[in-house]
Amino acid sequence: MKISVVYHSETGNTAKMADCIVQGLLSVEGIEAKAFSLDNVDKDFAKASQALILGTPVYGGSFSGKIKMWMETELGGLQAGGKLAGAFATANFIHGGADVAIQAILAHFMVHGMLIYSSGVAKGQPFIHFGPVAIGSDLPSFEELFKIYGQRMAEKAKELF
Ligand SMILES: Cc1cc2nc3c(=O)[nH]c(=O)nc-3n(C[C@H](O)[C@H](O)[C@H](O)COP(=O)(O)O)c2cc1C
Repeated sequence: MKISVVYHSETGNTAKMADCIVQGLLSVEGIEAKAFSLDNVDKDFAKASQALILGTPVYGGSFSGKIKMWMETELGGLQAGGKLAGAFATANFIHGGADVAIQAILAHFMVHGMLIYSSGVAKGQPFIHFGPVAIGSDLPSFEELFKIYGQRMAEKAKELF
């Protein structure tokens, strides 16, 4: 089963955390997972993916303009409806708007008929209410969280599909 992670990253933080999610996804047997910068998505792989996870840097307290543009112009062409979907963010500050960014992406996914998931409190600690968030000045301390998130998304995809 294929799973795509798509991200926007200008200075590398969101790209690094996308790689951690891929590591978590690949820890589940039978999962083929790849991360793509939104400028370079393998559309065949993304279309064939049962799950899509989108990562954004927080800009102005929400997702970046490039993420907005990508969702408006590219997502519909990837047979998004019915895919499992999740979102993650990197930011400078814990109060910088990452939850807002993630929730706005998840809302957009719902418009496409995607099945949004984060694991919430259902899988115990660490709780991941909306999607994982990493603070740019301390990325290594968030790596394990992002791997766990990837593993949980893969397990949910296998359960559903
Ligand atoms: C234009 C711009 C706006 C930003 N706005 C916020 C913000 O509102 N809140 C925040 O916590 N960080 C903000 N940041 C910091 C980025 O979210 C943070 O550095 C992020 O990890 C960058 O990701 P990247 O390395 O993948 O590009 C902003 C950065 C830029 C360039």
